[in-house]
Amino acid sequence: MKNSIGKIGIIGLILLLTAGIASSFAQSQYPNLGQKELVIKRGFTQDALNCIECHAKKMPGTVEAWKSGSMAHAGVSCYDCHVVERTSPMANQCEGLKGTDTYISPMVSSKTCSRCHPGEVEQFLKSGHAKLASKAVMDVSKIGGKLIKLQYHYEGMGFIDNPDMKLDGLTPKNMPAYNRASRASGCQMCHGTQVEMGPDNKPLYETWPGGVGTRYPDGSVGTCTVCHTRHKFDIAEARKPEACASCHLGPDHPDIEIYISSKHGQQFLTHGEDWKWDSAPDTWEPGDYTAPTCAVCHMSGIGELSTTHNINERLKWDLMHKKSVIRSGERGDGEKGDKLMRKVCANCHGSTHTQVQRTTLDNSVALYNKYWDGAVKMKKELSEKGLLKKDAWRDGFQELMYYLWHHTGRRARQGTAMNGPDYAHWHGFFQVFQVYQDMEEIYNYRLKYNKIEELSHVMSSGPL
Ligand code: HEC
Ligand code: HEC
Ligand code: HEC
Ligand code: HEC
Ligand code: HEC
Ligand code: HEC
Ligand code: HEC
Ligand code: HEC
Repeated sequence: MKNSIGKIGIIGLILLLTAGIASSFAQSQYPNLGQKELVIKRGFTQDALNCIECHAKKMPGTVEAWKSGSMAHAGVSCYDCHVVERTSPMANQCEGLKGTDTYISPMVSSKTCSRCHPGEVEQFLKSGHAKLASKAVMDVSKIGGKLIKLQYHYEGMGFIDNPDMKLDGLTPKNMPAYNRASRASGCQMCHGTQVEMGPDNKPLYETWPGGVGTRYPDGSVGTCTVCHTRHKFDIAEARKPEACASCHLGPDHPDIEIYISSKHGQQFLTHGEDWKWDSAPDTWEPGDYTAPTCAVCHMSGIGELSTTHNINERLKWDLMHKKSVIRSGERGDGEKGDKLMRKVCANCHGSTHTQVQRTTLDNSVALYNKYWDGAVKMKKELSEKGLLKKDAWRDGFQELMYYLWHHTGRRARQGTAMNGPDYAHWHGFFQVFQVYQDMEEIYNYRLKYNKIEELSHVMSSGPL
């Protein structure tokens, strides 16, 4: 572990010392704390022991998971992560604490982790996994109607429940009541949203728990456990592609599908069981594995690169929005990203091979952008002639245009970027081309007859 002292800070240092004592007593690499009372009593205060002992009876699954992780062995317990100041906007008391002056919260954000892991949290907060991820799924935000419209009208929230909701001038206070189940069960579980508190100082049920960019009532952002699942907080887990797969999948960003069908995924599927997954932080290198996982390319230290929790750092292009541009500003630094990603490949491939891959990605982006520019041109003309419906979901042309970038176009671009030929072509460019031709047909029809066709036929032929 590089900079271990700097990374975990003073509290961590004390705990590490405690851990040293604990493990010499335990005399095994992964002691089972349940069987080693002595270890617990050495490492934990009486207050911390109270939480553990009662929860071991009342919530055994949680305590068992925590015991199996390395932080438990280092003396980090429920008390360190869940106890909050009485004045915290999240302060509450569980059944076992009623009548005491100890307050807890079921919510634990990256801010708590930053007490001992400031470096990781700082990197994370600069990434698209933090604020940008939840911005897309917030009820009301200053950046405007666009994203809100996306949620309410375009992607299923409140569509039946609140079809005529006016979006202009909405604030969290004057927001009409509506059923948020679609967000709570979908968008929110991947992206996270702003947690709202109820009168009992518990989170409202349709705002928590949430995904990677969850925004907490105390202003902090981010749920670290999306990759290091609670309560084991495992580094090996986060290195496996499954850690990303619960979110990076499906028709609109099939990253796990692309990976599994790539040569790298083939290696993982056939040899992954023999790979060494639990090397110390920043020492996990080729040899421990023979082909990269998601983490190797996007996060882990490899060769001269150090581990980063900023997943934007090694990216050149924005491959998720309507038009692909080189990353800048809050999305990262694309020119630098290009150089860093090439350094990843250089550990296992020669410069000729890598240059071919990078050029093909640039060319795929250019090809896709050409389709997109053509679509924008057609749409502009239709709009000027009054040949677009106001509700995009009832308009075949606009519906297809959504699929062009959001589904087929992303598959083409990301399939190329991560070397999955089936997604680059059959689920990607082949369907980009088909969708585009259908859009041209509608465009020509509308111009020829100066009217909008009667029915949208998209959902029967659309590329799902
Ligand atoms: C290293 C920090 C850490 C430690 C140690 C820890 N937790 Fe947690 N706990 C978390 C995080 C992170 C979450 C998820 C919070 C979120 O999504 O907002 C969580 C969530 C929870 C929840 C609420 C979610 C649910 O499933 O009901 C409970 C209950 C809980 N922890 C109990 C415990 C108990 C009991 C212990 C001690 C055995 C413990 N935790 C130790 C970080 C920790
Ligand atoms: C005497 C038993 C007992 C003690 C001591 C105790 N708890 Fe609990 N705790 C429970 C029970 C039972 C629940 C589940 C019911 C509930 O949520 O209140 C719970 C729930 C929780 C939750 C989830 C709360 C929620 O709203 O979902 C957290 C977090 C938690 N405890 C943390 C702690 C911490 C930290 C300590 C030590 C400072 C502690 N508990 C001490 C019994 C106890
Ligand atoms: C009170 C200090 C403290 C807090 C708070 C804390 N950690 Fe840790 N964490 C440690 C220490 C100490 C270690 C080193 C354990 C070791 O070397 O085995 C560690 C190790 C880790 C590891 C590496 C585990 C491995 O398998 O090597 C991860 C991942 C981790 N912490 C995540 C978190 C997350 C996520 C949070 C917040 C929810 C958090 N930590 C909060 C002290 C803390
Ligand atoms: C299965 C997890 C998952 C669900 C459910 C989900 N998303 Fe996403 N979303 C992602 C991932 C992963 C990306 C990043 C895609 C990429 O890089 O290509 C993303 C990207 C986005 C983006 C583009 C990035 C940005 O910040 O501009 C928006 C907007 C978005 N999602 C909104 C939503 C909304 C609104 C919902 C619900 C109606 C939703 N998502 C449901 C996982 C999900
Ligand atoms: C997108 C997945 C992901 C998220 C989210 C994530 N981690 Fe990690 N984390 C990883 C991976 C992968 C590694 C292993 C890096 C390597 O191979 O050495 C890791 C390693 C760590 C380590 C071991 C030391 C190090 O830096 O390598 C700590 C501590 C840690 N993470 C803490 C956190 C904290 C705190 C958060 C929340 C701010 C967090 N992680 C969020 C994937 C993630
Ligand atoms: C809990 C869901 C979740 C998990 C797990 C997850 N991600 Fe993400 N990821 C997202 C969402 C949501 C976005 C879109 C962020 C935005 O709106 O910009 C995203 C975006 C990204 C991006 C694009 C960065 C950008 O500009 O936003 C990369 C690269 C990425 N994730 C890699 C990973 C890797 C690698 C892992 C596993 C080690 C992983 N993610 C795990 C939800 C997740
Ligand atoms: C061989 C290395 C490699 C592996 C393995 C890999 N990726 Fe990627 N990934 C890339 C490259 C290269 C890009 C495009 C980078 C650029 O723009 O220069 C990319 C792009 C992405 C993006 C798109 C970001 C955007 O702009 O929308 C996401 C999301 C992503 N990867 C997630 C994942 C996930 C999840 C996995 C595992 C299932 C994974 N990656 C596996 C190399 C890899
Ligand atoms: C840890 C080693 C490792 C890293 C890092 C790595 N690869 Fe690979 N890659 C492999 C192995 C092993 C194969 C399978 C070779 C074979 O087909 O015999 C492979 C195959 C490929 C293939 C399939 C074509 C072929 O040569 O068979 C492509 C394309 C590819 N890699 C691109 C990349 C790119 C681009 C990067 C960097 C973003 C990268 N790889 C990073 C190990 C790696």
